[in-house]
Amino acid sequence: MFRRLFFIIIAVLSIVNSKAQRNKLAPTPPMGYMTWNFYADQITEKDVRTIADAMVANGLVDAGYNYIFIDDGWQGGRDKKNNIIPDPVKFPSGIKALVDYVHLKGLKLGIYSDAAPLTCAGYTASYHFEEQDAGTFAGWGIDYLKYDYCNAPPDMETAKIRYKSIADALTHSGRNMVLGICEWGDRQPWLWGRSVGGSLWRIAGDIRDKWSSENDSLNIEKGGVGIMDAIRADADIAGFAGDGGWNDPDMLMVGLYGHKGPSSDLGGIGCTDVEYQSNMSLWCLLAAPLMVSCDVANMNEATKRILTNKNILAIDQDKLGKQAVRKINNNGWQVFVKPLENNETAIGILNTGKKAGKFETDLATLGLEGKYTTLNIWNNEIKKNQKKLSYTVGSHETVVLRLNNPDMPKVMSTK
Ligand code: GLA
Repeated sequence: MFRRLFFIIIAVLSIVNSKAQRNKLAPTPPMGYMTWNFYADQITEKDVRTIADAMVANGLVDAGYNYIFIDDGWQGGRDKKNNIIPDPVKFPSGIKALVDYVHLKGLKLGIYSDAAPLTCAGYTASYHFEEQDAGTFAGWGIDYLKYDYCNAPPDMETAKIRYKSIADALTHSGRNMVLGICEWGDRQPWLWGRSVGGSLWRIAGDIRDKWSSENDSLNIEKGGVGIMDAIRADADIAGFAGDGGWNDPDMLMVGLYGHKGPSSDLGGIGCTDVEYQSNMSLWCLLAAPLMVSCDVANMNEATKRILTNKNILAIDQDKLGKQAVRKINNNGWQVFVKPLENNETAIGILNTGKKAGKFETDLATLGLEGKYTTLNIWNNEIKKNQKKLSYTVGSHETVVLRLNNPDMPKVMSTK
């Protein structure tokens, strides 16, 4: 009797513990390079090595981008024992050798599968092979799994069951692997993503390399999701981010410049550098995962400057883990306020209009009493004793400020 009770207690404790551990796998939003937009399903091991080398050489690794996420197209079916295998032409040395290569460079490797027999691009996926595939990924030394939802039933309950079954399988494998949920926000994954074992969940359809669909209907997929459409989907669910679980508005468009591929579909003709800088600013304010997707081996100076700005990255990675709340959304202005640890605050002022304009407000109307020192993240301008904001902001530009109130006690978060 006591023996039975003992085993039940141990089993319950290990379930509680494994859940708690899954919630700790991504204490801040994951950062890295995702292969889909630039390589589509033609990604090869040679490309992954090139990406790893470039990320070290151009400072992305130093800036904190520590994952390479291999997206769809790596799979070569199953062997006679039903083990999932990589495409032998694209990955002749196998995934384990690639993992070893990127680990030596200070990077982690992510891989991709789907909660159905086939992935979105029609490759072998993990439904009914969850435990076996998780074991295979663990054996290779994989650190992250993006799990898509093409070819799976539409209802929320089935999605929860399928995501939980892969999350449990990852836990059973004994290796820490982050789970990225990718069902495009269709079943409100912010409500259940964390409880089934996910660390991030896509909140909208695939993002395209464009500013906006200019279509206010909620069917953002129809017009193609632009940067502003992803913001529209993300801004109202701020409260669900944090504590190891993140709203994911999809990859960064920065530096793609209309590159032909998945992100150029549905009007993805490219953005200006001002718009790419807003893309980065808004993703960081919204505590989004930062997944670079341009040609990292050939980045221009503007792209490098935007992606590696330490002050904007610190806002994304702030340990308090709060997503900015949109406090103002009218007359073409959107203002985001993100509490940071140590009693600091980040503010983003976005001009969605077609012309430059002046934005002014008292800080008190944003809930910030007292006088603040402000650091303008993109031009390093510092102002002291500020009670008001007054900035001229270009069309589609986002001014990002870091505010510090010298009179407030400095309290570090314990997370
Ligand atoms: C879906 C996902 C994309 C990408 C492709 C791969 O569309 O949303 O991010 O992973 O599948 O086929």
